[in-house]
Amino acid sequence: MKIMTMPTRPFPGQKPGTSGLRKKVREFAQPGYLENFVQSIFDTLGDCRGKTLLLGGDGRYFNDKAIQTVLRMAAAAGYARVMVGRNGILSTPAASAVIRKRGLSGGIILSASHNPGGPDADFGIKYNLGNGGPASESFTEAVYRRTQEISEYRMLEARDINLGHIAETTLGEMAVSIFDPVADYAELLESLFDFEKISELFVRDGFRMRFDALHAVTGPYAKAILENRLGALEGTVINAVPLPDFGGGHPDPNPVYAAGLVAEVSSPGSMLSFGAASDGDGDRNMVIGPNFVVGPSDSLAVLAANHSLIPAYAGRLAGVARSMPTSRAVDRVAEELGIPCFETPTGWKFFGNLLDAGKATLCGEESSGAGSNHLREKDGIWAVLYWLNILASRGETVEQIVRGHWRRFGRHYYSRHDYEALDAAGAEMLFACLRDVLPSLPGKPVSKTKVRMADDFAYLDPIDGSRSERQGVRIMLDDGSRIVFRLSGTGTEGATLRIYLERYESDPECLAIPVQEALTPLIQLAGELARITEITGRTRPDVIS
Ligand code: G1P
Ligand code: ZN
Repeated sequence: MKIMTMPTRPFPGQKPGTSGLRKKVREFAQPGYLENFVQSIFDTLGDCRGKTLLLGGDGRYFNDKAIQTVLRMAAAAGYARVMVGRNGILSTPAASAVIRKRGLSGGIILSASHNPGGPDADFGIKYNLGNGGPASESFTEAVYRRTQEISEYRMLEARDINLGHIAETTLGEMAVSIFDPVADYAELLESLFDFEKISELFVRDGFRMRFDALHAVTGPYAKAILENRLGALEGTVINAVPLPDFGGGHPDPNPVYAAGLVAEVSSPGSMLSFGAASDGDGDRNMVIGPNFVVGPSDSLAVLAANHSLIPAYAGRLAGVARSMPTSRAVDRVAEELGIPCFETPTGWKFFGNLLDAGKATLCGEESSGAGSNHLREKDGIWAVLYWLNILASRGETVEQIVRGHWRRFGRHYYSRHDYEALDAAGAEMLFACLRDVLPSLPGKPVSKTKVRMADDFAYLDPIDGSRSERQGVRIMLDDGSRIVFRLSGTGTEGATLRIYLERYESDPECLAIPVQEALTPLIQLAGELARITEITGRTRPDVIS
């Protein structure tokens, strides 16, 4: 087998976003497109000889083809071994677990997370470092620079490898280990939670739940853990078989895309006390009770407030961290616990240094992401088990737990409004105009309060001193309310404007207002300040979560 050096030319736009490079499948499938990006990763890493790489993905369309390409290129780059999840499957959190447990040099994860899959939908690729976490901004910037100057890639001339069976094989001089993608991860989770107590809940108390894997990667993981290890009834996990197009659905665990789950758990006469779902690559979570959806920001605060019930976190939490747009519900818990709360830019990669340095134990994002120092990625099934452990220990319903939390800490009314597929130039202009008015805003009256401060969030990493600018425009009001504007870094069509709205309420009589109603003055102010209709022509958001 010989190594071929193929001439190539740069493709524009291979710039990784919030979480790796995401593009339409048809863009990725162009000859040389994936190859250029993978070669740029290897070139940025430098000498790969003798190292072991992890490889797998969420099973979406093009996953299988891309794995064969990466394998041939890894062999040409001199890797000693590549470990591939059976059938090319690896959830993002499981990838993080395997890299850490086995001390691998890093991993390539093929996923576009919660974006739809199929020939006309999305594909993605990201590189994770030896700590199991997403590569830092400086690394992804270096990869991007490399993609702009690349002139050749290298590939072993070789056959496709059968990925369907656990086996040790070779590709040229490189070893290829096809392994069970579930085992290491399941073992890690078992070490964190009180599996005995959760199992009693299912087996002795007859507790019933549904986990909707949305035909994405978590099916095999959830079945192994919930049904096989914990004794939940067979059929607890639905849509459990990963499909290349996620069964035509949208693998994003929210009440819109997991509407069937919400309806089932909430239907009159339902025996189900709990529902949960995860996304395409298994790092997001949604948690619900009958007629009650737990907001991700509230979920993070509840997890932190109940940490003493969980074996792995029963000692002290070192600290908590949340992305800037995430509601400040967890800040109140941190304050009461007397621990620090870090505020980072959007994207899990910013938690990596805090976790590595032991400064944060729990981390979370408003976009249905939560995780801990057990990994360097957010983790959907981890969040579900954390909730199960709380439910088993407290003997209350999901709704009782959250309402009790609000009574104790107050409620952060919270919502995100997304305007999708906007004209990119228009979106840039909207931000330019918004940034221009920021200095004039302090003091501006808004309903019964006024603007206290307005800025563009910049983050100074307390561990490595790196600075990330322009991470979202923040407008803070005197009564503690807040509006945040930012552009998505994961979309594949035009620009997506995200507006995050938050209002704090501690009056016990005012804890049950419908969310959009509670936020009406902020929604109006956001529209006015950003001149949304005037600039984009849109009169309402596409998605409200
Ligand atoms: C979105 C979320 C962000 C999350 C990322 C990857 O990024 O907002 O919190 O880390 O997906 O799951 P965005 O599209 O906003 O850049
Ligand atoms: Zn994801």
